[in-house]
Amino acid sequence: MIFITAYNETSSLVEGFRVGGVDYITKPFQAEEVLIRIANHLKLSRLTNELRAKNRALEEEMSRRRQAEDERDTADGRLSILADRENARWGLPGFVGQSATFRSILETIRRLHRFSNASVLITGESGTGKELVARAIHYGGVHAEGPFMPVNCSAIPAELAESMFFGHVKGAFTGASSDRKGFFELASNGTLFLDEVGEMPAALQAKLLRALEDGQVQRLGEANARKVQTRIVAASNVDFQSSIAAGRFRRDLFFRLARFTIDVPPLRERTDDIPILARHFLKVLSKEMNLHMPELTAGALKALRSYSFPGNARELRNVLERALVECDGHAILAEHIHFFFSPEEAQRRTRSLSEELQAPNESHQTGSAAPDEERIREFVQAEGCINNTSCRELLKVDRHRASYLLRKLEREGRLVVEGQGRWAQYRLPEARA
Ligand SMILES: Nc1ncnc2c1ncn2[C@@H]1O[C@H](COP(=O)(O)OP(=O)(O)OP(=O)(O)O)[C@@H](O)[C@H]1O
Ligand SMILES: [Mg+2]
Repeated sequence: MIFITAYNETSSLVEGFRVGGVDYITKPFQAEEVLIRIANHLKLSRLTNELRAKNRALEEEMSRRRQAEDERDTADGRLSILADRENARWGLPGFVGQSATFRSILETIRRLHRFSNASVLITGESGTGKELVARAIHYGGVHAEGPFMPVNCSAIPAELAESMFFGHVKGAFTGASSDRKGFFELASNGTLFLDEVGEMPAALQAKLLRALEDGQVQRLGEANARKVQTRIVAASNVDFQSSIAAGRFRRDLFFRLARFTIDVPPLRERTDDIPILARHFLKVLSKEMNLHMPELTAGALKALRSYSFPGNARELRNVLERALVECDGHAILAEHIHFFFSPEEAQRRTRSLSEELQAPNESHQTGSAAPDEERIREFVQAEGCINNTSCRELLKVDRHRASYLLRKLEREGRLVVEGQGRWAQYRLPEARA
């Protein structure tokens, strides 16, 4: 609104503006002036509208950004809560035991936290907690903020192994549609956990050794190597002594990986850990199942302590999971404890597990295996060779026992093997045949 006034005095002008005028014209007026003022005000109002719209858009954009940032912050918060939980779960607090053996393992882990670059090799039977030891090494050390990357070496196809470990550039091979980092780079400033390292294919062993020696990795198809700061923690339940003797594992790689070694003994050799582990598992499991934690009676504990646990801590956890369901919210009694194997079968299994990890010259101590071994050699003398199937038939044992005995005789140099896996045939060594 533009108003017209004949009195050029302040009070009436103020009144005009007060009721909503944006400008005024004094009488007598010229048409020219009116048109110019109107044009100016239309322009001003257009610009104001435009500015207002832009402002609104800007405000919307800012609020979107604020929201995104809030979301990122909560996600970060969530991540750090997860990291805390992970830490509580995998760091030293979630790793329980009280036996002297366990305490000395803890001591070693604590010492390793200070040597952030040394590779560590963890050995022990299946289910003893090797992965937990690896995580405890990582989450307690200076690289705790960095990634912990577990890689199961036995599950990686040999032809993909190099690109998976070291990465590749686009076009390095058919199907390489973009650049990719390998495990070494992904775990940079953190820990690369090589699980089942004893099963690593030979070609990869050589490449791994090179990477470990100079701390550099080269993506497939790329000319230059890159420096990485990746700590290597490896684990395996194979007997390296015989693997190396049989040429299945490189001696130099073994020594490179085993700057420090931690042997995690089987649960049956540290039964003092059973009560505390059992309670720990019950606590974790009942929380997961949203139950209150039941009491573990002396009877149940006695049953647990007398069993030999061929599957180690993992088996204990499974046994308790079932007991937790069966006790139906009441105390866990001996009758709720069910083992997967009969005590005799469990002992037979643990005996062969122990023998398998023992040095060859110690393995005769058990005695009971000797007649079986003699019978196998007699069979080979008569038939020329033996495989797993014929050994099973000969001794009336299962596949695992047959395979264990044959591999043991081979390790001890009393038989030689030809072929692999189910095609393996065992014969007498040349000199003796
Ligand atoms: N001392 C421990 N404290 C708490 N939990 C444990 C302990 N030892 C083992 N466990 C639990 O037992 C299970 C088996 O442990 P883990 O996977 O580390 O064994 P492993 O030695 O890597 O076995 P495998 O050779 O079969 O891979 C896991 O659920 C782990 O959390
Ligand atoms: Mg494991």
